[in-house]
Amino acid sequence: MRLYTFYSTGCQRLTSNRIAIRSYGLIESPVDAKMVRRFPRSGDGENPGACYGAKRPASGRRTKAPATRLPAVPSRSREASFSPYTVDLRVGWLTDIHLNFVVPHKRSRFYAQLREQQLDAILLGGDIGEANSLTQFLAEIESGLGVPIYFVLGNHDYYRGSIAGVREAVVRQTAASRWLRWLPTSGVVSLTDHTALVGHDSWADGRLGHFFRSDVMLNDYVVIAELIGLTWAERYAKLNELGDQAAGYLGDRVSEALAQRRNVFVLTHVPPFREACWHEGQISNDDYLPHFACRAVGERLAAIMRDHPDRRMKVLCGHTHSSGFARILNNLEVFTGGAEYGEPRLQQVFELE
Ligand SMILES: [Fe+2]
Ligand SMILES: [Fe+2]
Repeated sequence: MRLYTFYSTGCQRLTSNRIAIRSYGLIESPVDAKMVRRFPRSGDGENPGACYGAKRPASGRRTKAPATRLPAVPSRSREASFSPYTVDLRVGWLTDIHLNFVVPHKRSRFYAQLREQQLDAILLGGDIGEANSLTQFLAEIESGLGVPIYFVLGNHDYYRGSIAGVREAVVRQTAASRWLRWLPTSGVVSLTDHTALVGHDSWADGRLGHFFRSDVMLNDYVVIAELIGLTWAERYAKLNELGDQAAGYLGDRVSEALAQRRNVFVLTHVPPFREACWHEGQISNDDYLPHFACRAVGERLAAIMRDHPDRRMKVLCGHTHSSGFARILNNLEVFTGGAEYGEPRLQQVFELE
C-alpha cells in the first residue's frame, strides 16, 4: 500500500491570449516574490493536442504519484501601457491553497497581496482546508478580500468529515454570505457580456488508467466518511458516481452558458483529461490517473465543444499540484495549477472584455 504525497513545483507562468480574454501570469510566492518563468512550449498554436507542463527540478523529490449575474463590481480601464483596450473584469485564479498548512500571519499577507492586484473577482479551485476548518477559511477569505469569490471544493475539503456534511455546511454558509458563491449551486454566472463561468468540485472517477491494477491508496479513502471501508469494486462504483454527478451538472450548465455567451470558463478541482493530469512535467501514469482525473467530465465537455466550434472554453483545474497546459481541441484549453503546501499563490489573472 502506498500513500500519495504531493510533489510541489516552483513558480511557473502560463499565458494565453485566446477567446478575447487576455491573461498573463502573476504567479509569485507570497513570501519573496520569486522569479516568474515561462513554460517551455512545444507545438503551441492552434493545433489540438499542444501541451506543456512544468518540469520537475533536478533536486526535487519524486513521488508517484438560469443565469446568475455577477454582483456589481466597478468596470475599469486599465493603463494604456498595460492593456490596449478596455477591461471589464480582472479575475484571479487560485487553487489548492491548503490554508490549514499556512500560519495566520502568512495567510494575512497572502490576502493583502491579492488585494494589491485589484481583482474584481476570485476563482478558487478547491483544497482550501479540511472539513473542520473549511468554513472558517472561507469566512476569512471573504473578509480578507471583499470581492466575489466563486469556488469549488477539492477532496481535501472533505477530509475528516463527510461529503454530505461539508456540502450542507457550505450551502448554509454561502446562503448567508455577501461574496461567497459555491459554483455547484450557482448555475451559470455571467462574468461579462461575452464570458460565462460554471463550475463543479468534480472527483477523480477511476476511469482513466488502470484502477484495478493500481495499488495507489489515497488518504481520501481512509478519512472521508463516504469512502471509508469500501472494497475496490465498491470504491470504483462510488468514484464513478461522483464523477457522473459532476459531468451531468457541468454538461447541462455549459450548454446553457454557450447559448448565452461565446466564451465559458469551467472551474473544477480535478483534471478532466489525461492530457491535463500533470505530474512533474509529465502526464500521470496509469497507476495514478484513476485517482487524479475525471474521464466523465472530460468526455462531456469535449463532446459539447465539438458541437460548438464557434465557442471557446477554458478549463481551470488543480489537484495534482503540478502545473501544465493542454489544448484538447482548437476551442478547448485546460490549465492545471501548481501548488506547494504552505505557500498559497495566485495562479494567473485573466482580464476579460
Ligand atoms: Fe491539493
Ligand atoms: Fe485535491
